[in-house]
Amino acid sequence: MKAAVCRRYGPPATITIETLSDPQPGAGEVLIAVQAAGLTSGDARIRGAHAPAGMGPMIRLAFGLSGPRRPVLGREYAGRVVALGAGVTRYSPGDAVFGITDGMRMGAHAELVAVRADGLILPRPDSLNVPEAAAFFFGGLTAADFLLDQCALQPGERVLVVGGTGAVGSAAIQIARHHGAHVTALAGAGNLDLARELGADVALDYRTAPAKGPFDVILDMPGLMPDAAARLAPGGRLGLITADLATMLGAMLRPRRAGGRRLCANVVKETPQALARLVALHQAGAYRPLMGAQFPLADIAQAHAQADSGHKRGNLVIEMEPQL
Ligand SMILES: NC(=O)c1ccc[n+]([C@@H]2O[C@H](COP(=O)([O-])OP(=O)(O)OC[C@H]3O[C@@H](n4cnc5c(N)ncnc54)[C@H](OP(=O)(O)O)[C@@H]3O)[C@@H](O)[C@H]2O)c1
Repeated sequence: MKAAVCRRYGPPATITIETLSDPQPGAGEVLIAVQAAGLTSGDARIRGAHAPAGMGPMIRLAFGLSGPRRPVLGREYAGRVVALGAGVTRYSPGDAVFGITDGMRMGAHAELVAVRADGLILPRPDSLNVPEAAAFFFGGLTAADFLLDQCALQPGERVLVVGGTGAVGSAAIQIARHHGAHVTALAGAGNLDLARELGADVALDYRTAPAKGPFDVILDMPGLMPDAAARLAPGGRLGLITADLATMLGAMLRPRRAGGRRLCANVVKETPQALARLVALHQAGAYRPLMGAQFPLADIAQAHAQADSGHKRGNLVIEMEPQL
């Protein structure tokens, strides 16, 4: 199979396309012919070993010291089942599926990937085309976890989404709006109309227009609003989607602050239930992934460069050559 391979951490050009031996499905696994895969800010962080302050050593310990031990990155995919490992009865060859691979195994930026049949995989609904399915989970799971679980958003609350048109922010605007919140989004000047189309009641340019608040819930996507906690109403919750190690530890060890305010920085739950809830939100009209640029596998380095920018629109998708 062809795969995008990252042998050493570095800039986008360190990714090369190689021919690797085809993976075989182990017991309880299905082999999937990947039709499209998401390329996320998380993939770009691993490739570049870029992490918020204090987290770099953790990336290297977890993924490999000078380069990823598992050199094929990528987690979210859409494709078709092509072979079954021993004991799999849940899927059949030809089934259209989508999901996310195990966080440490990755491997979705390839023509074939083997995943556990009882893991983070679902049949692809007709309401999502292949690129949308490949872009479905990363931003949506993060936004739903922070808004609904960690920040316990209630209908009628005032929400501020900082970075409203990237992968996570575009999902957060939609889900918060569907949940009956009044949504203010901060975005770059060229993305204000898009933020309103996604459902923001108010869209402001983060370079020129401060969002005064107070807000009941703030989700800070890029972690670039140091005074966010000061804009919380009493009882408000700040979701720290990106935080340096010290801030994250502080939030975990002492989440409760003055006035009943709370900092939320827990790890996003990746469970079959969380995936199913996101699909249910989609089917209720609450969420559809915002589609950004699409690239053939051969141009994956360009996609990494866009993801590195910190200003991409929605979700980037890598399209594989048709194999079936
Ligand atoms: N905690 C977790 O489990 C978790 C999960 C997923 C992602 N993340 C992190 O969350 C962050 C966002 O991920 P993503 O995939 O949504 O990234 P993305 O698609 O690159 O979007 C980044 C967003 O940040 C906005 N932005 C850039 N500079 C800004 C500033 N100075 N003030 C306000 N907004 C600004 C951009 O707006 P414009 O384009 O309009 O400039 C864009 O909307 C990344 O750092 C990622 O690593 C964490």
